[in-house]
Amino acid sequence: TAYETILVDRKGRVGLITLNRPKALNALNSQLMNEVVEAATAFDRDPEIGCLVITGSEKAFAAGADIKEMQDNRFPDVYLDDWLGPWDRLGQLHKPVVAAVAGYALGGGCELAMLCDILLAADTARFGQPEIKLGVIPGIGGSQRLTRAIGKAKAMELCLTGRMMGAEEAERAGLVSRIVPAADLLDEAMAVAETVAAMSAPAAVMMKESVNRAFETTLAEGVRFERRLFHAAFATADQKEGMAAFAEKRTPDFRHR
Ligand code: HXC
Repeated sequence: TAYETILVDRKGRVGLITLNRPKALNALNSQLMNEVVEAATAFDRDPEIGCLVITGSEKAFAAGADIKEMQDNRFPDVYLDDWLGPWDRLGQLHKPVVAAVAGYALGGGCELAMLCDILLAADTARFGQPEIKLGVIPGIGGSQRLTRAIGKAKAMELCLTGRMMGAEEAERAGLVSRIVPAADLLDEAMAVAETVAAMSAPAAVMMKESVNRAFETTLAEGVRFERRLFHAAFATADQKEGMAAFAEKRTPDFRHR
């Protein structure tokens, strides 16, 4: 497929999506939303892909929803059209997704990063939910995922004031797993994704499902869910291979089945 607002590439078992509207700091217009969701869904279904990476440019991961595109929107239209609904499909992908964030990740950009599973930040990254300055609130889960990630105190302050936080603060608060020098960001994100993609695909998908379940349910139900998947892992050929390889002191040759 020919995309106009993103670049799509693959390296081994990793699928890479690069947001590419440089003149608008990767503002998320409808075309970009549809293209990201389509490309990510295609990678998710591709048996040759084990992990995805989503990144932006040096200056901006994404500076939010496209303000110029949405400014004349009216309630009945956006309600009936389920505007922004397709983004939910990104959070429902089976395979793990790494967000590699440099520069601005604001509004929908911060929300897009939080829809991913592993969040790596360049030292230049700046996160925020500045919607309040435009007279609105987040619409792709920002008020929910930011609060779960960093707690009410910081989330409330950031959302109510629109203040941006830098990479250091974001790491301290638990929003990102690691900070890397901007020049190494993509290489590092690809290396992390290659590591994940080399694991048994069923195990990686179970792992993602299980961790995400922690945000959806009680501890007892979450542990029960994990236990069922754990038992199910013994139905995969990769479990036999992984444990045989350990016993034989060799590297496992996972078939992702
Ligand atoms: C449309 C945008 C944009 C956006 C930047 N641009 N952000 N266009 N929507 N969200 C455009 C600018 O209009 C400008 O175009 C070009 O990109 C470069 O931006 P500048 O402002 O000139 O760059 P700079 O001075 O470096 O400032 C960077 C910035 C600022 C601090 C990130 O652009 C900014 O505040 N952007 C808006 C951030 C924001 O409010 N995001 C939340 C959106 S609401 P021209 O044509 O003038 O060169 C949102 C709702 C979420 O995300 C709900 C669901 C998605």
